[in-house]
Amino acid sequence: MRTSWPTLMGQIGACTACDLCHGRTNVVPGEGDLHARLMLVGEGPGEQEDLQGRPFVGPAGQLLDRMLAAIGLTRAQVYIANIVKCRPPKNRVPTPEEAAACLPYLRAQVALVRPRVIALLGATAARAVLGDEVRITRDRGKWVERKGVFLLPTYHPAALLRDERKKRPAWEDFKALRDKLAQLDAGN
Ligand code: URA
Repeated sequence: MRTSWPTLMGQIGACTACDLCHGRTNVVPGEGDLHARLMLVGEGPGEQEDLQGRPFVGPAGQLLDRMLAAIGLTRAQVYIANIVKCRPPKNRVPTPEEAAACLPYLRAQVALVRPRVIALLGATAARAVLGDEVRITRDRGKWVERKGVFLLPTYHPAALLRDERKKRPAWEDFKALRDKLAQLDAGN
């Protein structure tokens, strides 16, 4: 049976399934429209996110907000989550074990929100969801369909802050997200 939001949020808030729980100030479960057509999945909370208990509120999040605005969306119209819900020490990449321990929560979030389109932001998100063989530079911008849901790997906004050259392909990916949503709307 499908879980409910209060049950799921309670489980995430109390989770001790991996060692990341010991370092957290707040869990960062995710937020946004609980019926969003577009879900965005990042890697894991950074410093600001850990302090505030909200996803993508630091510098990468500000860029993400601008990219969403450029395709006509606000953060209130999408659902934003992460692969791991607790901040890894010094913002290191979550281990595959940590990602695996947390993945059932993301799956439950997807089952509740039932988005039509999911953007996987960066290699960690893309690999955790699509498999270890994903290479973000090679595979970004390529749609994958799973049970009627369209998934698009793209660069993580933090990568765009580090490397300007990634901005143009990421912008192409965001336009593809916009076009896919419009196409799905036109179809039903
Ligand atoms: N980076 C992420 O992957 N997730 C956040 O919530 C913030 C920064």
